[in-house]
Amino acid sequence: MSEPRKILVTSALPYANGSIHLGHMLEYIQTDMWVRFQKHRGNQCIYVCADDAHGSAIMLRAEKEGITPEQLIANVQAEHSADFADFLVDFDNFHSTHAEENRELSSQIYLKLRDAGHIATRSITQYFDPEKKMFLADRFIKGTCPKCGTEDQYGDNCEKCGATYAPTDLKDPKSAISGATPVLKDSQHFFFKLPDFQEMLQTWTRSGTLQDAVANKIAEWLDAGLQQWDISRDAPYFGFEIPDEPGKYFYVWLDAPIGYMASFKNLCNRTPELDFDAFWGKDSTAELYHFIGKDIVNFHALFWPAMLEGAGYRKPTGINVHGYLTVNGQKMSKSRGTFIKARTYLDHLSPEYLRYYYAAKLSRGVDDLDLNLEDFVQKVNSDLVGKVVNIASRCAGFIHKGNAGVMVDTNAAPELTDAFLAAAPGIADAYEARDFARAMREIMGLADRANAWIADKAPWSLNKQEGKQDEVQAICATGVNLFRQLVIFLKPVLPLLAADAEAFLNVAPLTWNDHATLLGNHQLNEFKALMTRIDPVKVQAMTDASKEDLTASQTDTGAAAPAGNGELAKDPLSPEIEFDTFAAVDLRVALIVKAEHVEGADKLLRLTLDIGDEQRNVFSGIKSAYPDPSKLDGRLTMMIANLKPRKMKFGISEGMVMAAGPGGEEIYLLSPDSGAKPGQRIK
Ligand code: MSP
Ligand code: ZN
Repeated sequence: MSEPRKILVTSALPYANGSIHLGHMLEYIQTDMWVRFQKHRGNQCIYVCADDAHGSAIMLRAEKEGITPEQLIANVQAEHSADFADFLVDFDNFHSTHAEENRELSSQIYLKLRDAGHIATRSITQYFDPEKKMFLADRFIKGTCPKCGTEDQYGDNCEKCGATYAPTDLKDPKSAISGATPVLKDSQHFFFKLPDFQEMLQTWTRSGTLQDAVANKIAEWLDAGLQQWDISRDAPYFGFEIPDEPGKYFYVWLDAPIGYMASFKNLCNRTPELDFDAFWGKDSTAELYHFIGKDIVNFHALFWPAMLEGAGYRKPTGINVHGYLTVNGQKMSKSRGTFIKARTYLDHLSPEYLRYYYAAKLSRGVDDLDLNLEDFVQKVNSDLVGKVVNIASRCAGFIHKGNAGVMVDTNAAPELTDAFLAAAPGIADAYEARDFARAMREIMGLADRANAWIADKAPWSLNKQEGKQDEVQAICATGVNLFRQLVIFLKPVLPLLAADAEAFLNVAPLTWNDHATLLGNHQLNEFKALMTRIDPVKVQAMTDASKEDLTASQTDTGAAAPAGNGELAKDPLSPEIEFDTFAAVDLRVALIVKAEHVEGADKLLRLTLDIGDEQRNVFSGIKSAYPDPSKLDGRLTMMIANLKPRKMKFGISEGMVMAAGPGGEEIYLLSPDSGAKPGQRIK
């Protein structure tokens, strides 16, 4: 065995002025699954986070609620902590950026940067609210768009025409806080000289620390040349005062990433065996990963490594960026009930459903991820309840009734247990690479094989026959062993299911290495239902409640949520798409040259399609409706020709044919009128 790795992991620090929603949860669940995987494998992996408690938004929100910022952030921290715990996000420490450790580290880092000559000062002119006596950030200024004349637009861009501009370009500017007309005023600001780090960043961002798409985006910024970064704000501001500069505060984004260190420091202070420098010192051999969303890449891949370098600390090993969550194909919307708070979800559904769904859809890229609520119900029910839990529930009863709950020591399917063993390294690689979708596909592929094997052995029929008891016991013990393997593989995603399974299996908490062994001559505990199906009624209740949240929080200024803009209610399952989205689909007439069965596949047919200039191999789940595939030979249908090829167990599928109907025998392949030629585009 190699030495256990030392790994420190963070998720972005959620703002302390709003509730956690399912978009945030994508990040925390993703990180948590990766951390749990590392711990499961025996590595030392520490996961820290904190609330991001500073900034003018928090100050203003507290003022509005008639409480101090300290009270506000304490309330929010309690709410956030409960949301995370109930989603099984297991931080080693959840701290706050408004903490002594962070004040010390921020001051110290700033002073190191200053003393090394990386801080500049100069005066800038900004809008100032003469009533509130404060400088106004762009989003606190509203006025008329200089380009299209739309009223009530924010200080940096127009929601109507998309123009971007400086707040001073707005016509008739007003303070969004007091309504007063702002005046221009000068003040001294402090800047971090990011260009000093241009060369280091050029190398660091190309050294495997970033996903390619992110590195390319950063390269555009680097090529355009870096600017100095304004890191100060004038009082009144809720944050840390800059050392030696009374009335000047660190901009929230200066001390926010330092909050990662501060949270870890706070943990070290309580944990004697943890050494701060071993993780953050220049010569640290520990790995350091930040999981973030794609909107905050510049802070993490430019400013942050430059600050660390300038202040003499180590830099991150990797910045792991994910895309944004959409719900039913669209941006989360309060009016559609798809702006779902973590708590609203938890009021109706179990956290593991969402953890599994996110896992099944998350790969290592930065693409957005869609939570399609209908698919969510279908996928969770079919995979977790229908495949995984089903194996145990099919077998447990026979072992309890026929052998007093003792699993016999016979492996009735060595080729299958070997296949499970052989699949483990690939599953581990997928987890390690954050390709949770691939890990889930491989695990469900194994579950399919286990179910098919049990169905074929049919212990329920054998059990009715004389003299077959030993065989029934061997089959069911093997089935339970296969179930146990699946639980080991799924444990980072489904810790509760794993705990319940451990109780049923009567074993100590399972670790990854346990997959190499099987249980035999082993007493089981009583089998209780491990997971129930999602009732779609509950999903509806959740979206209904989310619409109610909207009415309840109409006065809520805090959440950076896309506002529902009063559009008409539409069928949530058929979101409107832009013409361009439709036009991007390459629909063609296709000739089915050959349709055939696929060995080992229950649902698939292999279609060889002629689309004029080329032939395509497509796997299609239409076998139930076309038991004799040769009947399809020579028929015309329609296909999506530019669907990204997909690697399946049986080969690569290069497109999709179009069919209608609910499924089973009722699948109707579409056909064009006679006269259509293979390869013609559908317009
Ligand atoms: N406070 C900053 C982060 C500071 S890190 C030093 C912040 N907070 S946030 O609350 O707005 O977002 C926290 C994390 O959640 C970010 O990584 C952000 O990208 C992620 N998400 C917020 N909304 C999201 C979706 N709708 N979908 C996916 N991730 C989302 O940014
Ligand atoms: Zn405009």
